[in-house]
Amino acid sequence: PIAAVLEIGGVKIAKDDVVRESDPSNNVPDAIFSKLGLQLHRRDNHPLGILKNAIFDYFDTSYSAKFVKFDDLSPIVSVKENFDDVLVPADHVSRSYNDTYYVDAQNVLRCHTSAHQAELLRKGHTHFLVTGDVYRRDSIDSTHYPVFHQMEGVRVFSPDEWLGSGVDATSYAASDLKKTLEGLAQHLFGAVEMRWVDTYFPFTNPSFELEIYFQDNWLEVLGCGVTEQEILKRSGREDSVAWAFGLGLERLAMVLFDIPDIRLFWSTDQRFTSQFSEGKLGVKFKPYSKFPPCYKDMSFWISDAFTENNLCEVVRGIAGDLVEEA
Ligand code: PHE
Repeated sequence: PIAAVLEIGGVKIAKDDVVRESDPSNNVPDAIFSKLGLQLHRRDNHPLGILKNAIFDYFDTSYSAKFVKFDDLSPIVSVKENFDDVLVPADHVSRSYNDTYYVDAQNVLRCHTSAHQAELLRKGHTHFLVTGDVYRRDSIDSTHYPVFHQMEGVRVFSPDEWLGSGVDATSYAASDLKKTLEGLAQHLFGAVEMRWVDTYFPFTNPSFELEIYFQDNWLEVLGCGVTEQEILKRSGREDSVAWAFGLGLERLAMVLFDIPDIRLFWSTDQRFTSQFSEGKLGVKFKPYSKFPPCYKDMSFWISDAFTENNLCEVVRGIAGDLVEEA
């Protein structure tokens, strides 16, 4: 059963406002609606919450708590916030009904935490981290799920910070960005193989991706770059330069905790949840059966001739060598 009303960031959202089967501009199924408001990233005993807190520790330590943290912003945002404000072109595929969940013609389930960049810049924030659930219509497999969690980081520099450095504003921001994220990777992983890949995002230039080597594959864990000047200009900061990154918490947590399947993050099975606790980053996950436990009691009478191995052999005679503990 799905709760009919959710509260996110102090705002009440009725299921009917999000899932209206009669509205042709709505494509949010119940299975997705039921994820709204769960906020796995705010649970201190969940791998995503543990990871979020470890990233906070890194920024608090390296930037003496200058970064303001938001982790309760509503995932329902306007098309303008999700796309226009971060310069996503009008014909970009990510805007399509095939790729994004539309609540109605003007509002979507955010497909990235970048949806909050412009508003927070406009409010005058210069150092901030936004953590939240993001939604993309996507196929499901061990590393993809239509709901996952991102953390966005933005840092704005004023001219006195790069003037006199001998490099231009963009290079200054780009090298600070890479240094910051390499430091973060080091803080989280210790030694890990990583590489920078040049890429494209509408909201940054230059743009990069950081990949980490995991289970014989290069895994993309974050996108980042130097913020497009147009975004700063629209928020009244044309004199500044900024960097931004958006990292996927699940991908990083899978590597850190050895979690083999992204679907496990949603598990309420004790065998999953009991393995993690607050502040314990990188405890290795111990796999368990995909099937739920099944309890069956059995009673029997024994004669004097009974020995324990008689029973074990009767059981093995039926179940074979898979049975381990009686
Ligand atoms: N929003 C991008 C994504 O979801 C990540 C990103 C954030 C890239 C900020 C650059 C700057 O893939």
